Amino acid sequence: MAQKPYVVDKMISAKAIAARIEDLAREIEAAFKDTDKLVVVGLLRGSFVFIADLVRELDLPVEVDFLETSSYGNSMESSREVRILKDIRGEIEGRDVLVVEDIVDTGHTLNHVIHLLESRNPARLETIALLDKPSRREVDVRASWTGFEIPDEFVVGYGIDFAQRNRSLPFIGKVRFTE
Ligand code: IMP
Ligand code: MG
Repeated sequence: MAQKPYVVDKMISAKAIAARIEDLAREIEAAFKDTDKLVVVGLLRGSFVFIADLVRELDLPVEVDFLETSSYGNSMESSREVRILKDIRGEIEGRDVLVVEDIVDTGHTLNHVIHLLESRNPARLETIALLDKPSRREVDVRASWTGFEIPDEFVVGYGIDFAQRNRSLPFIGKVRFTE
């Protein structure tokens, strides 16, 4: 199906994202200062740019792992039913874990992942989301840290896609249909 034409209006600059990640990294370092090695779990695919920038800003020993959940497909609506397409490789029992998500929208994805990973008895499980759309929430879940709260807009860039497009934009922009 052909994509309706749209443009991307800049919403959060690359510079603002970098500055926010520096602040978040200092908070995460303080929270995990006694950890042996933090397991940072990125949720594929939307968090790949965020996790890359975040771990390089963290002055902590980290291990990186990835989990992939089912996505929106090519639509803009949440599927609500979350499936695990790819599980993490490592054991997390007794470990300190930080889940890295791109956006918390309805909350179903983060909620599902938290329950799944908690069932494996980590010593500590925290979550970070670059973006949060609180007005869209359907389940009561919050990330331990949030980069930016945004209104109910469909956004792309900095790893985040619209039907697999625009992930490589260095900033966050909102999709605006032109017809
Ligand atoms: P939730 O399960 O509804 O919270 O949705 C979470 C997932 O939906 C995120 O990890 C994103 O992959 C995707 N998503 C939510 N909002 C947007 C958006 O504005 N642009 C692109 N993807 C989005
Ligand atoms: Mg996602």
